[in-house]
Amino acid sequence: MEYSIVILVLLSLCVESVWLQGVGSGDDGNLRVCVVEGRGLYKRAGRFCPILDAENSGVECVLGTDRLDCLRRMSKGTVDFGVFSPEDLVAAQWADIDVLVTNELRNRPGKFERSIVAVVNRRILPEGRSTVSDILRNTTLCHPGQSKDDMRGLSDTLAEYLENLVTVPSCNETMSLTENRIKAMSEFFNKACKGGPWLPDAMRDAELKSKYSNLCAACHSRSCSSIDQYYGGSGALSCLAEGAGDVTWPLLHEVQAYFGLHPDTTAFGNPADFAYLCRDGSWQPLSDNPEPCLWLNRPWPVVVAKRKAAESVSHLAASLTNSSVTVDAHWRGALAALLEINQALTEPLSPQMNPLDYLSGARGFREAYSRSGCSPPRHITLCTTSILEKNKCEWLSEAGSVYGVAPPLQCSMRPSKRDCFRDVESGGSDVVMADSDWLVAAQRDYAVAPFLHETTPIVDQTSTVVAYVKKDSKLTKISDLRGKRAVFPRYDGLAWHAVAKHLSESKCDSVLTEFFSDICAPGIEKAKNISANVVEKLTKNCNMDGSNVLDGEIEALRSLVEGKADVAFISLSSFKLYSSKF
Ligand SMILES: *[C@@H]1O[C@H](CO)[C@@H](O)[C@H](O)[C@H]1NC(C)=O
Ligand SMILES: *[C@@H]1O[C@H](CO)[C@@H](O)[C@H](O)[C@H]1NC(C)=O
Ligand SMILES: *[C@@H]1O[C@H](CO)[C@@H](O)[C@H](O)[C@H]1NC(C)=O
Ligand SMILES: *[C@@H]1O[C@H](CO)[C@@H](O)[C@H](O)[C@H]1NC(C)=O
Repeated sequence: MEYSIVILVLLSLCVESVWLQGVGSGDDGNLRVCVVEGRGLYKRAGRFCPILDAENSGVECVLGTDRLDCLRRMSKGTVDFGVFSPEDLVAAQWADIDVLVTNELRNRPGKFERSIVAVVNRRILPEGRSTVSDILRNTTLCHPGQSKDDMRGLSDTLAEYLENLVTVPSCNETMSLTENRIKAMSEFFNKACKGGPWLPDAMRDAELKSKYSNLCAACHSRSCSSIDQYYGGSGALSCLAEGAGDVTWPLLHEVQAYFGLHPDTTAFGNPADFAYLCRDGSWQPLSDNPEPCLWLNRPWPVVVAKRKAAESVSHLAASLTNSSVTVDAHWRGALAALLEINQALTEPLSPQMNPLDYLSGARGFREAYSRSGCSPPRHITLCTTSILEKNKCEWLSEAGSVYGVAPPLQCSMRPSKRDCFRDVESGGSDVVMADSDWLVAAQRDYAVAPFLHETTPIVDQTSTVVAYVKKDSKLTKISDLRGKRAVFPRYDGLAWHAVAKHLSESKCDSVLTEFFSDICAPGIEKAKNISANVVEKLTKNCNMDGSNVLDGEIEALRSLVEGKADVAFISLSSFKLYSSKF
């Protein structure tokens, strides 16, 4: 650290002062860019951020865990700009962050990243005028398909929006939201090929596919498999062009390529047999129609900056796209690589706009994310125990709704974890997150079941219970601990049950309370149905604050260090966290 500071000072003597300085939130008014590190081996931040520092660029990196985290940092004022998808902007709209869209990041020419049209076989077009629902009812749909990757083709949310524009929604309360959606399509269309997985759960997926089998009947293999010839964006176009189906929702540029509508392309289908269907029920020819009626536009990714820094960021982005700049070793190249800016096509926005006005320019995009759904609305309620936790839950809820998580998450707040568990047991909330100390107690006392657990790259080590003894104690194995004094962070917690289980299963074959001569198990005084003398026995050696028994990992360690116990059972992560303090 000191080393890099020295380099900075030296360089700033020979590099001319940068005009960006002053408006940013970093050191010396540097602009702070929020960067999300990729998942793969290729670490952009690690490679390019040091270049920004070393060359006194006036820009510094802040690493965000994901793009929403970057938006959250922007709302807290700790970063100045970053690159975001249009979905991110929808997700952040409720948070009322004072930011402006400064640049569009295009990677090919075109006003929008994706423009979605409806293409129909002319055989279904009626004589006179009609509505889209009347035209499409009982026809065969070539569905562009379900992809787990939201960033390709039609996302789930956008596909659902298009479906809802024509089908009659189903709102049967005894069915899941997914099944209602499938049912509505199955009833509206005569047949379809809706390839790929409909649900992550493979068994349930198969069940629905056999129940609503007409939605797979138009596939080449009649099976909705993701290797079907008609699966996916170009598959749906083949399905239409080969006459297996009547209608599809493709990307405009894919239609133009497929039907050879650009001068220098080969056609796979005869454009004269097909037409663009418009949302108002009219239709237009495919040929000689470069700007047909659209159903939906998805904007480009954008650079978003805090209002105060917007002007500087816009200039900065423009300077990155100047043709003299290639992705070289210098800081502008490094920044371009961090932002994934494609040189020639990045458009400064003039005037700069707030995100919602920017999104309004894209037909259908915002509406797609304000789904009304069935009433009464359904929710999954997550119980939280602090304002901070509730705020995070609300971010998660907003983000989830944008990325198609349904039913949406809703957040409740109770004074303690115990109150949350009670709330879940009585049906007030559905989900509570708690650490592993609750695992046994909550399943036993509140009839809940664990369904997700956190894993970290540093493997599961963090929840491992360790027996911690003094160096000079000559205790080297668990059986040496018989008749010794033990301290636990809390009664009924992870360490408590881990030790109890170990003792009953090992050759010690002993119950915990008899194995040790003395036990401190804070929290037993609050447990139900424990006799007063047992409480007295299991708390008399604990650290106290007045009449309160102190619990927790650090208190357990303190007892050991102060000689009130011979062994402390704590988690490995606490050991790592606190051991240097004693
Ligand atoms: C739907 O179309 C099929 C085949 O084109 C036809 O047999 C059936 O009668 C139609 N159903 C309705 C309700 O119009
Ligand atoms: C809802 O679906 C169930 C089957 O899951 C069916 O028995 C019931 O009749 C449906 N209710 C309505 C109102 O359609
Ligand atoms: C691009 O660079 C040239 C030469 O350095 C400069 O004159 C021009 O203003 C730059 N353009 C932008 C948009 O920054
Ligand atoms: C309380 O303890 C008694 C005796 O050990 C037992 O019979 C009873 O089931 C316990 N009650 C609860 C609620 O655990």
